[in-house]
Amino acid sequence: MPIEFDQRRLPQIIDDLATQGWSRQTHVLPELLTRQLADECRLRAQKGALHPASTGRGGAQAVREGIRGDRIQWLEDGQHPACDHYLRAMDELRLFLNEAFFLGLADYESHFTLYPPGSFYRRHLDRFNDDDRRSVSAIYYLNPDWLPEHGGALRLYPAAGGELDILPEAGTLVLFMSADLPHEVLPATRERLSLTGWFRRRALSQVI
Ligand code: OGA
Ligand code: MN
Repeated sequence: MPIEFDQRRLPQIIDDLATQGWSRQTHVLPELLTRQLADECRLRAQKGALHPASTGRGGAQAVREGIRGDRIQWLEDGQHPACDHYLRAMDELRLFLNEAFFLGLADYESHFTLYPPGSFYRRHLDRFNDDDRRSVSAIYYLNPDWLPEHGGALRLYPAAGGELDILPEAGTLVLFMSADLPHEVLPATRERLSLTGWFRRRALSQVI
């Protein structure tokens, strides 16, 4: 079952990213695949494979639940067919983004993410101070029947001002410019699953 990223979405995505720095797309991948990804995330959680996410880099890297309380596991090729389909679809999107923006996106890194009820991720930017490779953030949500009263929105703080909440409903993909858009994850009343990832360009030191 080859999964292709639906090219008909591209004009909207490209326009959104160029004009407002973020884009929200719904029903991005087949429901069956999204369900398989959610099952795989839950299975990994049950097996104890997800570990508390850390913040900071190098010597400052540590788990700080007052900043972020999610649990993660990085995806690698060949772990599970559903994950491989997902990685392939995102790689197609990477090539399309390169054609549109000349960003020189070299790869896509992604992890499963599980926020236990009540956990959150305080306002932050996705680009590290000492590593500027992360260029476009991409979060794919895996939670069917998410209601506003469940909380758990991704709150964006666009440059134009104000704030904007996106619910983590299964099939929704959010893309935004990693260096520019502050955002946070609000606490939820139920478990919140996603695939969080970044399209990365080459490190400047490698380009020179
Ligand atoms: C992150 C993040 C947002 C979300 O992991 O850096 O901001 O909605 N996640 O899960
Ligand atoms: Mn983030």
